[in-house]
Amino acid sequence: MSDSKLRVLSGIRASGKLHIGNYYGAIKGMLELQQDDAYETFYMVADAHGITTPYEIEKIKAEKLDVILDYLAAGLDPEKSTVFIQSMVPAHYELSYFFSSVITVARMQHLPTFKEKVKQYPENATMALLNYPVLMAADILIYHASRVPVGQDQEPHLEVAREISRKFNALYGTNFPEPTVFRTKGSYVPSLTGEGKMSKSVEGSYISLRDDLETIKSVLAKVPTDSGKGEILPESGSVANLLTFVDLFMGEQAYKHYADLYTGAGIRYSDLKAELAGAIFAELQPFQQKRAELVANPTYVNKVIVEGAAKATEVANATVDDVRSRIGMGYTF
Ligand code: ADP
Ligand code: TRP
Repeated sequence: MSDSKLRVLSGIRASGKLHIGNYYGAIKGMLELQQDDAYETFYMVADAHGITTPYEIEKIKAEKLDVILDYLAAGLDPEKSTVFIQSMVPAHYELSYFFSSVITVARMQHLPTFKEKVKQYPENATMALLNYPVLMAADILIYHASRVPVGQDQEPHLEVAREISRKFNALYGTNFPEPTVFRTKGSYVPSLTGEGKMSKSVEGSYISLRDDLETIKSVLAKVPTDSGKGEILPESGSVANLLTFVDLFMGEQAYKHYADLYTGAGIRYSDLKAELAGAIFAELQPFQQKRAELVANPTYVNKVIVEGAAKATEVANATVDDVRSRIGMGYTF
């Protein structure tokens, strides 16, 4: 471990299958930074964040393993990155508790994500949910990470992390960085329904990394379209979103081809959807193959999980030991 390298941390909650929004918004950025020698990368499954909304024990156990498998299949390399499960490094909770002393309840209550989740689960406005961004700040700062590859929707959480970092440094002389989002080209993948972002909680909005060609075709078949031609290209809605996918998966030239057709002879959506389904599946196929190999090799996967937790714990404990003594906790003989 070299001190001169900038640290990176990212995580994805353990809840359901990863989709191409997660891939473009988060995983591609994780891969890019993993390849860059200037960075030391930590990538976790945020299972402790998974209990901030109602959950099932057996489901979360299976889903955290699924995220690990998805990470490894997508190319996260345990030789280069520390890949781990958040709840196996309990120092995160301790730092999160200390951090909660420098940020107000009002600040947390006003975050859009908190409001959304309370609307979604009115019976579940728990302390854990309120504390979600504080735990996230601890996840990042416990590794002194300054770059965080996540989708655009996470920006308000990063603002909280920067605020906590500044306050803590000012009060206690720590040297936490002010972490920023690392953006990829697809940092916002729209929903296939035409409204909002692709999300695993909205049926019909997403294509999972594990979907086969038939499933991809049938999801695309349900995307609402128009007559296929018009004077100007729509800027929002499902047709605009289909073209965004053409750009992401088939490239700029294909995008231009279809954009020209729209304002010219007209798009045949059956052609576009068939081509797009093929292109998406082609991109997912190597991932799916690698994932199947990993599923067949649980010994290797378990080793990655155990070693990842050990490496992360070493770094995380050092930070918390320092913070504990700086803020007057513990006991000095
Ligand atoms: P979901 O909204 O499907 O539940 P999560 O909230 O678990 O997804 O997000 C996991 C990661 O993937 C985060 O970094 C998030 O910013 C990113 N992400 C999720 N959906 C998208 C999207 N549609 N476009 C880009 N990034 C996304
Ligand atoms: N909040 C992130 C999400 O919903 C998951 C997450 C938890 C995370 N802790 C993190 C992301 C730390 C980046 C850094 O996807």
